[in-house]
Amino acid sequence: MRTQIIGSGFVTGEHLVTNDQLARLMDTSDGWIRERSGVEARYYVEPGTATSDLGVGAAKKALEDAGVDKSEVDYIVFATMTPDHYFPGCGGILQDKLGIAQVPALDIRQQCTGFLYGLQVSDALLKAGEARTVLLVGAEVHSGFMPWTAWDYLFGRGGKPPTEEEKAVITRFRDRTVLFGDAAGAVVLRAGEGDRGILGFQLHSDGANYQDLYVPGVGFAHRPFVDEAQIREWRHVPEMNGRAVFKMAVVRMPQAVRELCAKHHMTPGDIDLLIAHQANLRINEAVQKALGLPEDRAYNNIQKYGNTTAATIPIALDECRKSGRIKPGQLVCFVGLGSGFHWGAALMRA
Ligand code: ACO
Repeated sequence: MRTQIIGSGFVTGEHLVTNDQLARLMDTSDGWIRERSGVEARYYVEPGTATSDLGVGAAKKALEDAGVDKSEVDYIVFATMTPDHYFPGCGGILQDKLGIAQVPALDIRQQCTGFLYGLQVSDALLKAGEARTVLLVGAEVHSGFMPWTAWDYLFGRGGKPPTEEEKAVITRFRDRTVLFGDAAGAVVLRAGEGDRGILGFQLHSDGANYQDLYVPGVGFAHRPFVDEAQIREWRHVPEMNGRAVFKMAVVRMPQAVRELCAKHHMTPGDIDLLIAHQANLRINEAVQKALGLPEDRAYNNIQKYGNTTAATIPIALDECRKSGRIKPGQLVCFVGLGSGFHWGAALMRA
């Protein structure tokens, strides 16, 4: 028995924002963002749209693609680092908004590796017979982290531009803010007979350097867990040591792929399609080269969406499935690294 992806779908926030548009809020440029990260545009939600709303949109598309009625879903797994509320998680909220019966709904907090962790848990549930149809969702609304209020101005529908003082503050966070977008991806999973499906995983975690990418405030290490001082000091916005994360990613991602291939008596050269987490196009180019794969065996779409954290892999997978980029029998490898730090890879026979 192997876990098979029988349906997929995705949605983005409704507002497309180019690099040039972002440069109206801060000191940045389309050239810098493209050259350093590959990002050309990203989508943001309309204020008021929550992560669970995007998750519902992606889930509906995945269920439709699978030809599965929502009444057949008997387990929900929801990966996000930007939940609607501190608690409860988004899984139960999605269950209610979709009108699914009272099945278990589990939240995964593994940031950019959330989809891979969710896939491993789903695979284990299906193989153990604890579930027959799993709905796995990765969704994020990053715009809540953004250090500006000029959303109307950004979306080109009036509003005031930021003052020079506000621009200076926004610019302080430009290394992070330009990278992220809002979106959700979902897959429907079932166990099936035969060779097709998920072959296995190689996942890792190492909390030693978690402060290289984290939200310093707004947490229960503080009393109260959120206060005005934290907001004033911008401790609700993620801190990121971009260079350290970059270096870690280009070493650990290929390492995980090599380890996984070896476990399955394969080599990276056997991979027909590499779908990596979309944090930075330069990271993905380095990973592809380290694995000795030609450019046409790696799929990237960060140019269009930016980094959508738990949503990147299911979105890329959906685009590849629907465009015919994945052919039956091909070996597909998923790989990612994110805050925690958590990283790893999965292999799938299409
Ligand atoms: N626009 C213009 N200039 C900028 C911008 C910007 N948006 N951001 C930074 N700069 C400037 C810096 O101020 C610096 O200027 P200085 O030389 O005058 O001091 C210069 O550009 C170089 O800055 P670096 O931070 O050294 O640039 P780098 O080449 O490392 O690129 C980046 C930064 C894109 C963030 C890169 O380090 C990166 O992508 N790192 C990995 C990020 C990542 O993978 N995050 C994972 C997220 S996944 C998750 O779990 C949520």
